Amino acid sequence: MATISIFGLGYVGCVGVACLAKLGHKVIGCDVDCNKVNRINQGLPTIVERDIDDVLKEGFDAGRVSATTSTDEAVAKSEISFLCVGTPNANDGRLDTSYLLSAARSIGFALRAKSKFHIIIIRSTVPPGTNELVTETLEKISGKRAGINFAVVSNPEFLREGMAVSDFLNPTITVIGSEDKRALSKLKEIYSPLGSEIVEVQPKVAEIIKFVNNSYHALKVAFGNEIGAICKKLDIDSHQVMDLFCKDTQLNISSYYFKPGFAYGGSCLPKDLKGLNFLAKSNQVEVPILSSIDLSNIIHIQRVMERIQQIGVRSIGIIGLTFKAGTDDLRNSAAIRLAESILGKGCSLRIYDRYLNIARATETNQRELNARIPHLLPLLEDNVEDIFSKTSLVIATVRNPELPELVKKYPDVHFLDLVRSKDASIETLPNYEGFCW
Ligand SMILES: NC(=O)c1ccc[n+]([C@@H]2O[C@H](COP(=O)([O-])OP(=O)(O)OC[C@H]3O[C@@H](n4cnc5c(N)ncnc54)[C@H](O)[C@@H]3O)[C@@H](O)[C@H]2O)c1
Repeated sequence: MATISIFGLGYVGCVGVACLAKLGHKVIGCDVDCNKVNRINQGLPTIVERDIDDVLKEGFDAGRVSATTSTDEAVAKSEISFLCVGTPNANDGRLDTSYLLSAARSIGFALRAKSKFHIIIIRSTVPPGTNELVTETLEKISGKRAGINFAVVSNPEFLREGMAVSDFLNPTITVIGSEDKRALSKLKEIYSPLGSEIVEVQPKVAEIIKFVNNSYHALKVAFGNEIGAICKKLDIDSHQVMDLFCKDTQLNISSYYFKPGFAYGGSCLPKDLKGLNFLAKSNQVEVPILSSIDLSNIIHIQRVMERIQQIGVRSIGIIGLTFKAGTDDLRNSAAIRLAESILGKGCSLRIYDRYLNIARATETNQRELNARIPHLLPLLEDNVEDIFSKTSLVIATVRNPELPELVKKYPDVHFLDLVRSKDASIETLPNYEGFCW
């Protein structure tokens, strides 16, 4: 069992004190607020929360819980310090890490007097790069070295107020990010009794995931409410609608559609989104989320164009022109918009599309294609390698099994991947560029 100090005795810190003591660890709370320290020293929680009184009292009665306002004492008596101080929004919206850095500075001073290895865990929600900043602060103030005398781990807290004790003890996932193997294995030892999956990631991934989670949760609430507002106007039971929506665990409540890549298109998504926005507008329902989705999609295509212009190459190839792989459907294809923008900038363009080539083989389809994309048809190549041999920048809007080999074979051709090839080995090549990763 470990001896742990917890800095910040608010919602996250108080729950941490109680639950880590429940797991059998000796826990020392530390806060600048002496009222909170006094409460913990009487076995009383600093917050109102389900189950917290009993869990904290159990640890306190067993002699495993105490608190202090002295950082020196908390650091000297523990091997691990959890930072759970507040990170409120500053006036400009950024998360204010000044309390966290102030706690890091005082831990840095305390480390001067410590010879044993110390682990600092950032539990607070912080912007990417904070792990590095805390490490630099600790090195500067303590005169000690990260990796030798101490280590910093990013370990975001996912609990919900009202369910905090249960969430702490039954996490869906535990995320830990650090360069230091010793610290990671110690933390795994602490969390393994909880039985959840423990995922090791880069510190910046561990830092941003909390922003991503909470922004998505906010989006879910606001999306549901916009659907509710439209349904109400149309005399439709929105709860029945959303119950149905949630039953689709293949496309709706699933990991499908979530991976950053290229813009959406096709015959259904743009059309039906427009149809829903029309319903909202014609019923005087303001739906800022629904009405900005199409704009977000257009801006994403513009981002690709901006990147192409930065690369500064004028001979360009596109692999995949239909709206997605596996179909010859060109309706609302984002790749066509991209192709037209490239031509509009006066660049030369070659295109390869396996499914269009199959479609071209029949006379009816050839007529259809002549009618739809007469300006793009002459640019079609018969095989994918021609795109690499004839251009200086190749953009993939679909996956193709031949691409990894071609990226290796043509090192002078810049390859801009909009969909992420399944072959990770090409991602380290100098001519490979992933668009949003
Ligand atoms: N509240 C939640 O549900 C929740 C859930 C997950 C993550 N988080 C994140 O965890 C962090 C803490 O949130 P909270 O709600 O527990 O905050 P809180 O405001 O309830 O508590 C923060 C505590 O830190 C103390 N503190 C400030 N400076 C200190 C210092 N230098 N040394 C010691 N103590 C210091 C304050 O006195 C206060 O008691 C935030 O980054 C928050 O975003 C919160």
